[in-house]
Amino acid sequence: MLVHGKHYRTIWLKPEEPTVVQVIDQRHLPHQFVIKDLTTLEEVCVAIQQMHVRGAGVIGATAAFGMYLASLEAQKKGISQVQSFLQEAGNLLKATRPTAVTLSWAVNRQLAAIASLGNDIEAIIDTTLTVAKDIAEEDVDCCRRIGQHGVQIIEQISRKKGGDTVNILTHCNAGWLGCVDIGTATAPIYHAHNLGISVHVWVDETRPRNQGASLTAWELGQQGVPHTVIPDNTGGHLMQHRMVDLVITGCDRATYTGDVANKIGTYLKALAAKDNNIPFYVALPYSAFDWDIADGLTQIPIEQRDPREVKYVRGLCADGLIREVLITPPFSPAANYAFDVTPARLITGLITERGICPATPEGIFSLYPEKRR
Ligand code: MRU
Repeated sequence: MLVHGKHYRTIWLKPEEPTVVQVIDQRHLPHQFVIKDLTTLEEVCVAIQQMHVRGAGVIGATAAFGMYLASLEAQKKGISQVQSFLQEAGNLLKATRPTAVTLSWAVNRQLAAIASLGNDIEAIIDTTLTVAKDIAEEDVDCCRRIGQHGVQIIEQISRKKGGDTVNILTHCNAGWLGCVDIGTATAPIYHAHNLGISVHVWVDETRPRNQGASLTAWELGQQGVPHTVIPDNTGGHLMQHRMVDLVITGCDRATYTGDVANKIGTYLKALAAKDNNIPFYVALPYSAFDWDIADGLTQIPIEQRDPREVKYVRGLCADGLIREVLITPPFSPAANYAFDVTPARLITGLITERGICPATPEGIFSLYPEKRR
């Protein structure tokens, strides 16, 4: 997508230096656009854990490139047991963030691809690079297709409203910054905007890390999509007053029964949408499904992060410097659950790269029949 009119993805190989992976360091947005070099497995683990990159799609792609960098490291260090070295690298990557299943999906895909290569380091480097590139390309392709399917929902509402603006609420950042390009929840919105359909996005600020206020608002602004940032507790009021036509969120892990884990606070938006009869859709690619679990509430691991993220807020100060400020009494403990689970019964439908389906096993398996057991 565009940054100051120039096209970027969130992750790429450094031109002329293919042993370096470059990412947009999201910690500095919206005030500074910083590109960061990643050259080692350890740097990749830090980048994911500390959320220099965040969002299911780009976490998966970064982990995949992390496996490639780990293979290069194995070669540099003259490691003879490359398979076990990479197994361990995969375990380190998987441990960085537990909820987004795309991370372990990407690592497992790398491990499966190299499984038959023994300790042939040249072949392993070639393969991990190819798989990482494939994962990144597929993420973009899935998001494009999610946009093509999801735009139909927006078109329908726009027609019903006689062409009046369609107001869409979204939570966190399931935009292009959270993917490799285009985004999941934002894909139908960007598609509609490009078709000339009038859309306006209510952007939940998304405490504690404010991915909505700092990332979604920024990327929508860069693409010229009208939007308004709202405190997280405003959505219910807007829905009661018919100021929201549709909710679209992203997803970090979905069960095959249609339960969905997404950024903390998503569940409350789904409840409010249900109470107000407002369609609540979740946009996700196949890589966000966990085909092994049926009950999101008891089986999806919920990441708990440093309470410091709740107690301190980071922002641009009047003197032009970016600082963190404490907003709680220093002695008060804080809890930082990073995700919650929205049960399938609150979800109107899932927007996937294969089409839109009800959040039910039948609906999901109708799109992914090969996953039926
Ligand atoms: O903690 P984050 O910022 O990684 O959480 C991200 C989200 O919850 C997104 O909505 C989700 O990853 C879908 S984005 C493709």
